[in-house]
Amino acid sequence: MPGDKSVSHRALILGGLAEGETVISGLLESEDVQATAAAVRALGPRVERFGPGRWRVIGAPWRSPDAPIECGNSGTAARLLMGAAAGFDLTATFVGDESLSRRPMGRVRRPLESMGVRFEGGDTLPLTMHGGGLRSIEHLNVPASAQVKSAVLLAGLGSDAPVTVIEPLPSRNHSEIMLRHFGAEVETDGRVTRLGAARKLEGRLVSVPGDPSAAAFAWAAAAIVPGSEVRTEGVLLNPLRSGFIMALQRMGADVRLDNVRGSQGETIGDVRVRFGPIFGAEFTPEEIPSMVDEIPILAVVAACARGETRIEGLDELRHKESDRLALMAEGLSACGVEARADGDALVVRGGPVRGGAAVRTEGDHRIAMAHLVLGLGAAEPVEVDEAEMIATSFPGFREAMRGIGAGIEELR
Ligand code: S3P
Repeated sequence: MPGDKSVSHRALILGGLAEGETVISGLLESEDVQATAAAVRALGPRVERFGPGRWRVIGAPWRSPDAPIECGNSGTAARLLMGAAAGFDLTATFVGDESLSRRPMGRVRRPLESMGVRFEGGDTLPLTMHGGGLRSIEHLNVPASAQVKSAVLLAGLGSDAPVTVIEPLPSRNHSEIMLRHFGAEVETDGRVTRLGAARKLEGRLVSVPGDPSAAAFAWAAAAIVPGSEVRTEGVLLNPLRSGFIMALQRMGADVRLDNVRGSQGETIGDVRVRFGPIFGAEFTPEEIPSMVDEIPILAVVAACARGETRIEGLDELRHKESDRLALMAEGLSACGVEARADGDALVVRGGPVRGGAAVRTEGDHRIAMAHLVLGLGAAEPVEVDEAEMIATSFPGFREAMRGIGAGIEELR
């Protein structure tokens, strides 16, 4: 599996903030992560690739870039970079593609502003920021967003004022884990997270684990295609990212974890999924943060399961690369599945899937991958209107899926 996207962004950014050399292996070389690499380089640090997935970053004080920072399709790049840059006395403009330019940035602008950052622009990109001279903050992170929490913590590295983030539900904690790996002090009980006095980062070796959000497509394929068995090695099993594995198990799927171990503060291991009967289930809002990027593929598994699945608390899905709640209901329905958005819930009635439709993705990589996997469980092939954006998170998707027996053709 390719390297984890969240960990890859953070490795480049923390490397750029640290003193000395950071050597990264297993970096995800997707378009989103390449945007972060180019941005960190434009802000002053040295960022070099010296082999497949192998990168070296030499930290340096960040300075005003010569041109706008291009974040492409990536919300993580935009929000984490704004936070990391905020502690420096610099001016930078952040821009993104059409989809990113529609996504909410007020949620990161407001806490950074209350820390003393000045912004020009509104609540969406493009935004220009003037960093430096930061004050203390106690930020209530609603809705629980790891990107916003990370932005506030990264900004706080540039000051010695108290920095606290309070969350209604725990969001992924890769920034906290990696900050400790780089020598910073971070205290947390899972809801309240505080930067300690030690905030100087030192360059480190970072080994990026496999991405569970990419592996989810292969696991789902195994769960819905009769006779399958798929094994993925060295995948990130952080509990705040493992919601989809738990969901598969709850639906009755045959999932086994092996060789579970610690690695640089994270938990990793091997995951094997075998085909077997699966059943609809109910999921509550508290369960969503640990599988927030896996809801499209969970809906596909639900379409192939026996009985009804109801996934509650999906309001945040409307603010991802597309309105994922609406597009999943639309795509599944086009393929003959009884699926609907009910407020902020997604309701899917499973059964034999007809397929045989062309699905609209609005350029969202996970909507495309989810529906291609649906094609494996459907009577007729499923077509997606655009597959190029898959390279933003999983450039080797086609090869990986063909490697386990999926038929994926390019139509022109
Ligand atoms: C991410 C956090 C999540 C997730 C995104 C990656 C991160 O977004 O959907 O793909 O790396 O911190 P939110 O923080 O907006 O929930």
